[in-house]
Amino acid sequence: MGVNSLAWFWDVFVKCIYSDRYTKELACFLKNKKIKRILDCACGTGFPSIDLIENGFDVVCSDSNNEMISSAKKNAEMKNRKIDFFQLDWCELDKKFGEEFDCVLCRGNALAYADSWGKDIVTSEKAYSKIKTALKKFFYVLKPGGILYVDTALKNSFEVSGEVFLQEFKKNISGKDFTVLIAKKNDLNNKISFWNPQILEWNNGSLVSANGFFLKSALLTPFQLKQELISAGFRKIEEVSFKGENFCTVFLAYK
Ligand SMILES: C[S@@+](CC[C@H](N)C(=O)[O-])C[C@H]1O[C@@H](n2cnc3c(N)ncnc32)[C@H](O)[C@@H]1O
Repeated sequence: MGVNSLAWFWDVFVKCIYSDRYTKELACFLKNKKIKRILDCACGTGFPSIDLIENGFDVVCSDSNNEMISSAKKNAEMKNRKIDFFQLDWCELDKKFGEEFDCVLCRGNALAYADSWGKDIVTSEKAYSKIKTALKKFFYVLKPGGILYVDTALKNSFEVSGEVFLQEFKKNISGKDFTVLIAKKNDLNNKISFWNPQILEWNNGSLVSANGFFLKSALLTPFQLKQELISAGFRKIEEVSFKGENFCTVFLAYK
Protein backbone atom coordinates (compact mmCIF):
# COMPACT_ATOMS: atom_id res chain seq x y z
CA MET A 1 0.00 0.00 0.00
CA GLY A 2 1.94 3.00 -1.25
CA VAL A 3 1.70 6.43 0.31
CA ASN A 4 -0.80 8.41 -1.81
CA SER A 5 -2.72 5.29 -2.86
CA LEU A 6 -6.45 5.43 -2.17
CA ALA A 7 -6.14 2.57 0.36
CA TRP A 8 -3.38 4.43 2.24
CA PHE A 9 -5.41 7.63 2.15
CA TRP A 10 -8.63 5.99 3.37
CA ASP A 11 -6.79 4.22 6.19
CA VAL A 12 -5.54 7.55 7.58
CA PHE A 13 -8.84 9.29 6.77
CA VAL A 14 -11.00 6.96 8.92
CA LYS A 15 -8.51 7.14 11.78
CA CYS A 16 -8.82 10.95 11.66
CA ILE A 17 -12.60 11.23 11.46
CA TYR A 18 -13.58 8.43 13.86
CA SER A 19 -12.67 7.88 17.50
CA ASP A 20 -12.84 4.99 19.97
CA ARG A 21 -16.12 6.49 21.09
CA TYR A 22 -17.80 5.43 17.84
CA THR A 23 -16.43 1.87 17.91
CA LYS A 24 -17.41 1.43 21.57
CA GLU A 25 -20.91 2.71 20.85
CA LEU A 26 -21.22 0.37 17.84
CA ALA A 27 -19.96 -2.65 19.81
CA CYS A 28 -22.36 -1.83 22.63
CA PHE A 29 -25.30 -1.59 20.22
CA LEU A 30 -24.42 -4.92 18.55
CA LYS A 31 -24.09 -6.65 21.93
CA ASN A 32 -27.48 -5.31 23.05
CA LYS A 33 -29.01 -6.71 19.86
CA LYS A 34 -27.38 -10.11 20.64
CA ILE A 35 -25.43 -9.98 17.34
CA LYS A 36 -22.67 -12.58 17.01
CA ARG A 37 -21.82 -13.21 13.36
CA ILE A 38 -21.18 -10.14 11.19
CA LEU A 39 -20.37 -9.67 7.51
CA ASP A 40 -18.56 -6.40 6.79
CA CYS A 41 -19.18 -6.44 3.05
CA ALA A 42 -17.31 -3.16 2.37
CA CYS A 43 -14.50 -3.79 4.81
CA GLY A 44 -12.18 -1.22 3.25
CA THR A 45 -8.96 -1.09 5.27
CA GLY A 46 -10.52 -2.92 8.22
CA PHE A 47 -12.31 -0.19 10.12
CA PRO A 48 -14.24 -0.94 12.33
CA SER A 49 -14.17 -4.71 11.83
CA ILE A 50 -10.75 -5.33 13.36
CA ASP A 51 -11.93 -3.50 16.50
CA LEU A 52 -15.17 -5.50 16.51
CA ILE A 53 -13.18 -8.75 16.49
CA GLU A 54 -11.24 -7.44 19.49
CA ASN A 55 -14.64 -6.97 21.13
CA GLY A 56 -15.44 -10.66 20.65
CA PHE A 57 -17.61 -10.61 17.50
CA ASP A 58 -17.26 -13.23 14.77
CA VAL A 59 -16.55 -11.00 11.75
CA VAL A 60 -16.10 -12.00 8.11
CA CYS A 61 -14.71 -9.29 5.83
CA SER A 62 -15.31 -8.81 2.11
CA ASP A 63 -14.67 -6.03 -0.38
CA SER A 64 -14.36 -5.87 -4.17
CA ASN A 65 -11.12 -3.87 -4.10
CA ASN A 66 -7.92 -5.86 -3.82
CA GLU A 67 -5.84 -2.95 -2.57
CA MET A 68 -8.31 -2.16 0.23
CA ILE A 69 -8.34 -5.82 1.30
CA SER A 70 -4.51 -6.01 1.31
CA SER A 71 -4.43 -2.99 3.57
CA ALA A 72 -7.08 -4.51 5.88
CA LYS A 73 -5.05 -7.75 6.05
CA LYS A 74 -1.93 -5.81 7.07
CA ASN A 75 -3.87 -3.89 9.72
CA ALA A 76 -5.29 -7.16 11.09
CA GLU A 77 -1.82 -8.76 11.17
CA MET A 78 -0.39 -5.76 13.03
CA LYS A 79 -3.04 -6.29 15.71
CA ASN A 80 -2.54 -10.07 15.68
CA ARG A 81 -6.11 -10.71 14.57
CA LYS A 82 -7.13 -13.62 12.37
CA ILE A 83 -9.89 -12.65 9.96
CA ASP A 84 -11.39 -14.36 6.90
CA PHE A 85 -11.14 -11.96 3.96
CA PHE A 86 -12.93 -12.47 0.64
CA GLN A 87 -12.56 -10.37 -2.49
CA LEU A 88 -16.20 -10.16 -3.53
CA ASP A 89 -18.46 -7.72 -5.28
CA TRP A 90 -21.79 -7.20 -3.50
CA CYS A 91 -23.56 -8.83 -6.47
CA GLU A 92 -21.70 -12.10 -5.73
CA LEU A 93 -22.41 -12.36 -2.00
CA ASP A 94 -25.21 -14.91 -2.38
CA LYS A 95 -22.88 -17.24 -4.33
CA LYS A 96 -20.48 -17.39 -1.37
CA PHE A 97 -22.77 -17.13 1.66
CA GLY A 98 -26.13 -18.46 2.77
CA GLU A 99 -28.62 -16.83 5.15
CA GLU A 100 -26.03 -16.88 7.91
CA PHE A 101 -25.29 -13.42 9.32
CA ASP A 102 -26.89 -11.68 12.29
CA CYS A 103 -25.67 -8.38 10.89
CA VAL A 104 -24.36 -7.04 7.58
CA LEU A 105 -22.28 -3.86 7.74
CA CYS A 106 -22.00 -1.60 4.71
CA ARG A 107 -20.64 1.60 6.16
CA GLY A 108 -18.46 4.65 5.60
CA ASN A 109 -20.66 5.89 2.70
CA ALA A 110 -19.67 2.74 0.79
CA LEU A 111 -23.01 2.11 -0.95
CA ALA A 112 -22.89 5.37 -2.92
CA TYR A 113 -19.60 4.14 -4.44
CA ALA A 114 -21.25 0.90 -5.65
CA ASP A 115 -19.83 1.31 -9.11
CA SER A 116 -17.14 3.95 -8.70
CA TRP A 117 -14.65 3.26 -5.89
CA GLY A 118 -11.18 3.85 -7.30
CA LYS A 119 -12.65 4.72 -10.72
CA ASP A 120 -12.90 8.12 -12.31
CA ILE A 121 -16.21 7.47 -14.02
CA VAL A 122 -19.63 7.13 -12.47
CA THR A 123 -22.95 6.80 -14.27
CA SER A 124 -25.82 7.25 -11.85
CA GLU A 125 -28.13 4.80 -13.72
CA LYS A 126 -25.52 2.03 -13.44
CA ALA A 127 -24.77 2.90 -9.83
CA TYR A 128 -28.46 2.96 -8.82
CA SER A 129 -29.03 -0.38 -10.50
CA LYS A 130 -26.06 -1.85 -8.63
CA ILE A 131 -27.27 -0.36 -5.32
CA LYS A 132 -30.66 -2.08 -5.82
CA THR A 133 -28.99 -5.43 -6.52
CA ALA A 134 -26.56 -5.00 -3.62
CA LEU A 135 -29.37 -4.35 -1.11
CA LYS A 136 -31.15 -7.52 -2.24
CA LYS A 137 -27.94 -9.53 -1.75
CA PHE A 138 -27.41 -8.01 1.72
CA PHE A 139 -31.00 -9.03 2.53
CA TYR A 140 -30.33 -12.58 1.28
CA VAL A 141 -27.23 -13.26 3.41
CA LEU A 142 -28.93 -12.10 6.63
CA LYS A 143 -30.64 -14.61 8.93
CA PRO A 144 -34.35 -13.97 9.38
CA GLY A 145 -34.53 -11.12 11.90
CA GLY A 146 -30.97 -10.04 11.00
CA ILE A 147 -29.95 -6.38 10.77
CA LEU A 148 -28.38 -4.42 7.95
CA TYR A 149 -26.32 -1.43 9.10
CA VAL A 150 -26.01 0.86 6.09
CA ASP A 151 -25.31 4.55 5.66
CA THR A 152 -25.06 7.41 3.22
CA ALA A 153 -23.79 10.97 3.42
CA LEU A 154 -25.17 13.51 5.93
CA LYS A 155 -28.61 14.96 5.14
CA ASN A 156 -27.38 18.55 5.14
CA SER A 157 -24.69 17.71 2.58
CA PHE A 158 -27.49 17.36 0.00
CA GLU A 159 -29.13 20.66 0.86
CA VAL A 160 -26.40 22.66 -0.88
CA SER A 161 -27.11 22.10 -4.56
CA GLY A 162 -24.39 23.64 -6.70
CA GLU A 163 -22.52 24.92 -3.63
CA VAL A 164 -19.67 23.26 -1.79
CA PHE A 165 -20.48 21.48 1.49
CA LEU A 166 -17.46 21.59 3.82
CA GLN A 167 -16.45 19.65 6.91
CA GLU A 168 -13.32 19.80 9.06
CA PHE A 169 -11.99 17.24 11.55
CA LYS A 170 -8.87 17.52 13.74
CA LYS A 171 -7.09 14.59 15.38
CA ASN A 172 -3.81 13.80 17.07
CA ILE A 173 -2.61 10.29 16.19
CA SER A 174 0.51 8.94 17.90
CA GLY A 175 1.73 12.48 18.60
CA LYS A 176 1.08 13.75 15.05
CA ASP A 177 -1.50 16.47 14.35
CA PHE A 178 -3.85 15.95 11.42
CA THR A 179 -6.59 18.06 9.86
CA VAL A 180 -9.10 16.46 7.50
CA LEU A 181 -10.97 18.74 5.13
CA ILE A 182 -13.90 17.34 3.16
CA ALA A 183 -15.44 19.25 0.27
CA LYS A 184 -18.53 17.83 -1.43
CA LYS A 185 -20.50 19.15 -4.39
CA ASN A 186 -23.74 17.69 -5.77
CA ASP A 187 -24.64 17.59 -9.45
CA LEU A 188 -28.43 17.25 -9.20
CA ASN A 189 -28.94 16.88 -12.97
CA ASN A 190 -26.59 13.93 -13.38
CA LYS A 191 -27.19 12.63 -9.82
CA ILE A 192 -23.50 12.52 -8.96
CA SER A 193 -21.65 13.77 -5.87
CA PHE A 194 -18.08 15.03 -6.25
CA TRP A 195 -15.83 14.62 -3.23
CA ASN A 196 -12.47 16.16 -2.41
CA PRO A 197 -11.21 14.87 0.96
CA GLN A 198 -7.79 16.16 2.07
CA ILE A 199 -5.48 15.20 4.91
CA LEU A 200 -3.02 17.77 6.25
CA GLU A 201 -0.28 16.74 8.69
CA TRP A 202 1.25 19.35 11.00
CA ASN A 203 4.34 19.58 13.15
CA ASN A 204 4.36 22.41 15.72
CA GLY A 205 1.97 24.40 13.53
CA SER A 206 3.98 23.89 10.30
CA LEU A 207 2.52 21.90 7.43
CA VAL A 208 4.42 18.62 6.92
CA SER A 209 2.33 17.04 4.15
CA ALA A 210 -0.93 17.46 2.27
CA ASN A 211 -2.67 14.63 0.44
CA GLY A 212 -6.01 14.61 -1.28
CA PHE A 213 -8.26 12.68 -3.62
CA PHE A 214 -11.01 13.54 -6.09
CA LEU A 215 -13.77 10.92 -5.83
CA LYS A 216 -17.14 10.55 -7.51
CA SER A 217 -20.13 8.73 -6.07
CA ALA A 218 -23.77 8.34 -6.97
CA LEU A 219 -25.90 11.01 -5.34
CA LEU A 220 -27.72 8.92 -2.72
CA THR A 221 -29.83 10.91 -0.28
CA PRO A 222 -31.00 9.37 3.01
CA PHE A 223 -34.58 9.55 1.66
CA GLN A 224 -33.60 7.60 -1.51
CA LEU A 225 -31.72 5.02 0.57
CA LYS A 226 -34.77 4.46 2.78
CA GLN A 227 -36.96 3.94 -0.32
CA GLU A 228 -34.46 1.43 -1.74
CA LEU A 229 -34.39 -0.47 1.57
CA ILE A 230 -38.18 -0.76 1.46
CA SER A 231 -38.02 -2.00 -2.16
CA ALA A 232 -35.39 -4.61 -1.22
CA GLY A 233 -37.88 -6.16 1.22
CA PHE A 234 -36.69 -5.01 4.65
CA ARG A 235 -39.61 -5.09 7.10
CA LYS A 236 -38.53 -2.30 9.46
CA ILE A 237 -36.17 0.60 8.79
CA GLU A 238 -34.96 3.11 11.34
CA GLU A 239 -32.61 6.06 11.13
CA VAL A 240 -30.27 6.02 14.12
CA SER A 241 -27.48 8.18 15.48
CA PHE A 242 -24.25 6.80 16.88
CA LYS A 243 -21.99 8.93 19.07
CA GLY A 244 -18.87 9.79 17.10
CA GLU A 245 -20.56 9.32 13.70
CA ASN A 246 -20.29 12.82 12.23
CA PHE A 247 -19.82 11.83 8.59
CA CYS A 248 -22.84 9.68 7.65
CA THR A 249 -26.58 9.20 8.12
CA VAL A 250 -27.07 5.65 9.45
CA PHE A 251 -30.00 3.29 8.87
CA LEU A 252 -30.79 -0.06 10.45
CA ALA A 253 -32.90 -2.28 8.26
CA TYR A 254 -34.42 -5.48 9.67
CA LYS A 255 -35.01 -8.64 7.62
C1 LIG B 1 -15.82 4.59 1.39
S1 LIG B 1 -15.00 3.05 1.56
C2 LIG B 1 -15.61 2.53 3.14
C3 LIG B 1 -14.74 1.47 3.77
C4 LIG B 1 -15.17 0.99 5.18
N1 LIG B 1 -16.51 0.46 5.19
C5 LIG B 1 -15.03 2.07 6.22
O1 LIG B 1 -16.01 2.40 6.89
O2 LIG B 1 -13.91 2.59 6.38
C6 LIG B 1 -15.96 2.11 0.43
C7 LIG B 1 -15.57 0.66 0.28
O3 LIG B 1 -16.62 -0.03 -0.41
C8 LIG B 1 -16.05 -0.92 -1.32
N2 LIG B 1 -16.98 -1.18 -2.42
C9 LIG B 1 -17.48 -0.26 -3.29
N3 LIG B 1 -18.28 -0.86 -4.18
C10 LIG B 1 -18.27 -2.19 -3.88
C11 LIG B 1 -18.90 -3.32 -4.46
N4 LIG B 1 -19.69 -3.18 -5.53
N5 LIG B 1 -18.70 -4.53 -3.90
C12 LIG B 1 -17.90 -4.66 -2.80
N6 LIG B 1 -17.25 -3.61 -2.22
C13 LIG B 1 -17.45 -2.39 -2.76
C14 LIG B 1 -14.79 -0.22 -1.80
O4 LIG B 1 -13.87 -1.09 -2.41
C15 LIG B 1 -14.30 0.43 -0.53
O5 LIG B 1 -13.41 -0.39 0.17
